[in-house]
Amino acid sequence: PHRPYVIDEMISAKAIAARIEALAREIRAEFFDTDKLVVVGLLRGSFVFIADLVRELDMPVEVDFLEASSYGDATESSREVRILKDIRGQIEGRDVLVVEDIVDTGFTLEHVLHVLESRGPRKLRTIALLDKPSRREADIRADWVGFEIPDAFVVGYGIDFAQRNRNLPYIGKVRFTGET
Ligand code: PRP
Ligand code: MN
Ligand code: MG
Repeated sequence: PHRPYVIDEMISAKAIAARIEALAREIRAEFFDTDKLVVVGLLRGSFVFIADLVRELDMPVEVDFLEASSYGDATESSREVRILKDIRGQIEGRDVLVVEDIVDTGFTLEHVLHVLESRGPRKLRTIALLDKPSRREADIRADWVGFEIPDAFVVGYGIDFAQRNRNLPYIGKVRFTGET
């Protein structure tokens, strides 16, 4: 169904791990007075990143998940973000870190923040492994970004192309092959 493609490595597993170590130190400093941080991963793309990130966070955390989908299997943002699965925990008065794999147009993160903010957290922060600022349409930026990348079609480390390639241990760039 899809045009054939190959994946060129863009960010190695080693580079990702090193960056997460540094990010974890900054997060630890930001939440130094938090007794239990609520870490909310946005499904499905953030599942690998959140797993590695929380294991570098030397502090008590509660792990929760929220699914907000705009793309589905499409390659273009629908701009209509819906909450498909809400978090399980209460966040009123709590310190919350939203974990996203990639911020593209920004519509997903903008909508999720709007929804969570309305529940009265004490502190609400965001981290994204990847940021594609050239594609931004919503006026939003994650508080911490792992890597700023150009407008390439990326997969791996949780990120899919039509539900494939999430299990690659590195971030790769899709390159279409064959007839053009
Ligand atoms: C992808 C990605 C981000 C979002 C970024 O999720 O994981 O969550 O799109 O795009 P945006 O900034 O333009 O909103 P997707 O909706 O494909 O769901 P998935 O995480 O289950 O793959
Ligand atoms: Mn996602
Ligand atoms: Mg997707």
